[in-house]
Amino acid sequence: MVRELSLAEIFQLGYYWETKILLTAVKLDIFSALRDQPRTALELAESLQLDDSALRLLLHALVAMRVLRKEGDRFSNTSVGQQYLVRTSPDYVGHLLILHDAEWANWGRLEDAIRTGKSPATQHVFATNPELGAQVLAVLDRIGQASGPHLAKRLKLSGITRMLDVGGGAATNAIAFCREYPELEVTVLDLPATLGLAKEAVRRAGLTERIHLLPGDFLTDSFQGRYEMIFMSDILHYQAPPTNAWLVRKAYDHLESGGRLVVKDRFLDPSRTSPAWTTAFAVHILVNTEHGQCVTSEEVQEWMRQAGFTAVEELEPCAVVQGLKPSKPEGQDHG
Ligand SMILES: C[S@@+](CC[C@H](N)C(=O)[O-])C[C@H]1O[C@@H](n2cnc3c(N)ncnc32)[C@H](O)[C@@H]1O
Repeated sequence: MVRELSLAEIFQLGYYWETKILLTAVKLDIFSALRDQPRTALELAESLQLDDSALRLLLHALVAMRVLRKEGDRFSNTSVGQQYLVRTSPDYVGHLLILHDAEWANWGRLEDAIRTGKSPATQHVFATNPELGAQVLAVLDRIGQASGPHLAKRLKLSGITRMLDVGGGAATNAIAFCREYPELEVTVLDLPATLGLAKEAVRRAGLTERIHLLPGDFLTDSFQGRYEMIFMSDILHYQAPPTNAWLVRKAYDHLESGGRLVVKDRFLDPSRTSPAWTTAFAVHILVNTEHGQCVTSEEVQEWMRQAGFTAVEELEPCAVVQGLKPSKPEGQDHG
């Protein structure tokens, strides 16, 4: 039985002040300015060109939120602020929060979007601000490095030598898969601005011989060649369902007979009321992309069946689906 919310929890859900305080502090880069030594509000205001009285209010709230500390009239980072919110830290996650801050205006137009069905966004962040998109991917890449090896094992890719990763981002999955399967080579197709990040990651991983970068737009450019596996991870929610059905068919055409398409995304369950995070993500996608949508895994499986895939199945609930391109019957030469 699902527990009913208390009134206090309803108020908590409607209370976003602390969210915006944190996002603004990251945007103003206050934590980086406190990296080396404690400083007063006036010193910080002067170095960051801010109003010291207004800044002091923000700093006090950040102390109450436990990302800053105050001793006397000097402010310093707590250890969590120092580790994750200082720009030069190897664990910096601020780019993701800066993206959330950049999307604030679109969220402010949620009511309009619900009234009209029209998104305030005309393009997603990777198109409007490729630099921020790449920085966000760098954060997601660090977080994703923990799950990539597990996914590599789950997919059982032994014997596959040629894979295409459509919208492969920072090559997080390509690197994890190549580390697990020594015979695998992966082509990572992504927008040119994103591939700069992938190039650096592939070089650091020592995999330049096995991971090939293909700059392009997966909607308008060719997938170039035939593959034994095509992978699409977290890209379908940016497009409308008919475009995605078409992308699935495009993948079918670029697979060898017997090859497979694996799609990983944030799928809703058939009731569309779960997983909870994905139900909110679906609203995020509504206001921050022009045509994007979260779909159920059953919808993706249906696009696969319509394209001709067989043995279509959900490998991980609400997360991974796979379909096989049938092997050629003896003597037939098309695929
Ligand atoms: C959320 S990221 C996912 C990255 C990667 N697949 C992963 O799972 O870590 C979405 C990726 O799709 C890429 N992308 C979005 N639209 C694209 C398009 N039309 N053509 C090529 N890449 C695109 C973005 O640049 C970004 O790298």
